Amino acid sequence: TQLLHIVRNMPKAELHIHIEGSLEPELIFALAERNGVQLAYPSVDALRAAYDFKDLQSFLDIYYAGASVLLKEQDFYDMTAAYLAKAKADHVRHAEIFFDPQTHTARGVPIGDVIDGIHRACQEGPISATLILCFLRHLSEEDALATLEAALPYRDKFIGVGLDSSEVGHPPEKFARVFARCRELGLHLVAHAGEEGPPAYIETALDVLHVERIDHGVRCLEDAALTRRIAAEKMALTVCPLSNIKLRVFDTMKEHNLLQLLDAGLVATVNSDDPAYFGGYLNDNFVAAFESLPLGLQHAHELAKNSFAASFLEPAKKQQFL
Ligand code: ADE
Ligand code: ZN
Repeated sequence: TQLLHIVRNMPKAELHIHIEGSLEPELIFALAERNGVQLAYPSVDALRAAYDFKDLQSFLDIYYAGASVLLKEQDFYDMTAAYLAKAKADHVRHAEIFFDPQTHTARGVPIGDVIDGIHRACQEGPISATLILCFLRHLSEEDALATLEAALPYRDKFIGVGLDSSEVGHPPEKFARVFARCRELGLHLVAHAGEEGPPAYIETALDVLHVERIDHGVRCLEDAALTRRIAAEKMALTVCPLSNIKLRVFDTMKEHNLLQLLDAGLVATVNSDDPAYFGGYLNDNFVAAFESLPLGLQHAHELAKNSFAASFLEPAKKQQFL
């Protein structure tokens, strides 16, 4: 339809994409071969068949196994270059890309190889792209602090930090000190909150970590006062529709609350999260949402505008897109 054509072709920014979640099964097998890594699945089809998740943790187990083929700077470059080409095809003009250094340093990969490979692809890439270093919340704050220290020689290659991995039982306040340090360093701050975790985690991400965006945040609607606050503060939510269905945050796309978030006056954006695992890249997320929910042209424009407004682009660059 006309509306879907507009949605696909409109310029947009992507603010919630884990680069390790863009690793397609074909590239996983190619890198396993190149690096002599043994995989627990016999074929691309067998691996893809295992992408049937019951919750966030069942996904994370397979996502970390997939990332085990990444060993060399070139591997990180190849993964990132593949994502940027897909993003460009979806009319993404700017991407703010998450990466999980601890997933790689725990296997002995130097953090410099991780950052250099991803950053080199972004520099050369066909679209504008910046990096956000994420701490794994199932690990300790000490581990996060050590990771930050190890990353500081590469401080000019990432613009911010985030918080991801297993949410429930690992509230934002567990990372109060490392986020305070990042704040002093002038890094942008974001955190996953209110994906599987309760609205209280969104509240502490705001009050304790002082984040500038909430990743997911869809459970905010369970708390009316919190919803009003997020609207008043124009705090953006990076919503990931296909992810929320695959990880069973909502049973079906018809039950997704994206439209309610917009109707509540929130700065919601649409993003792909882990496109290789959840059935599609950014336009697949837009199309799935627009096909299942009563969203119209105004919503399309609002979502595109929100994506640039909520980005960490400098104001002059932001202005070019708005
Ligand atoms: N790491 C990659 N994708 C994630 C998600 N959706 N939630 C938490 N951690 C993640
Ligand atoms: Zn995510």
